[in-house]
Amino acid sequence: MTTKLRCIVADSYGELSQIGADAVEAAIKADPNVSVLVATGNTPMGLYQELARRRANGAFDASHVRVFQLDEYLGLEPEDRRSLFGWTRRSFVDPLGIPLENVTRLAPDAGDLEAACRAYDAAIKSAGGLDLAILGLGPNGHLGFNEPPADAHAPTRVVDLTIESIESNAQYWGGRDVVPRVAMTAGMDVILGARQTLLVVSGSHKRDVLERTVAGAVTPDVPASYLQLASDVIVLADRDAWGAMPQPR
Ligand code: GLP
Repeated sequence: MTTKLRCIVADSYGELSQIGADAVEAAIKADPNVSVLVATGNTPMGLYQELARRRANGAFDASHVRVFQLDEYLGLEPEDRRSLFGWTRRSFVDPLGIPLENVTRLAPDAGDLEAACRAYDAAIKSAGGLDLAILGLGPNGHLGFNEPPADAHAPTRVVDLTIESIESNAQYWGGRDVVPRVAMTAGMDVILGARQTLLVVSGSHKRDVLERTVAGAVTPDVPASYLQLASDVIVLADRDAWGAMPQPR
């Protein structure tokens, strides 16, 4: 197995969360105004909890961090428990003491969804681009909700979720019937434009897709494989996800 990506294999999910928190804390300390694209999903939750713990202990101040939402379902009421904005807020924004005015949402309730997507991209541009993208890996290789096949230049847009994503998201909400079918996602162009990327991957169910991401062909069928072409990427996996691939150097 050869990969150009910088890969770190943690012994456990707990260690993955510590190493991930180290990287995000370092980015915040290096630039208190850092612009961060923030994933939901289960994998980064331990990292976020560890960051919140450190911040509560006075390790750093996140009040100037700028947050950009990665993805959102369409068709939900603002207070719906399934809102990914709500999840981003509960897990990252509020525990880190980041003011809401520092958060750029995807706006799935906008009358003009295309205009909302362009406004989101413009907000990233006017922030000077993304400094850091914290991403999880979809079981079908998606990043955000850039479902395969996805072009590397795919913009921020509305997408139909694939059956794989509906099934994997069912674990969050208690069944596939309650998973919305349509979503809005930060584009591949936005994600791949981040100056630094941290992809967190945990669990044996991600083994195949992780191997295709780091060591397979760069292909629209595995949108995460485009990270092989991005500039400063850390793939942070636990041993269960890394499986039998050779230990990275
Ligand atoms: C979800 C989300 C992604 C998330 C990924 C992995 O469908 N759209 O933003 O990063 O899949 O989720 P998890 O970490 O729960 O495996």
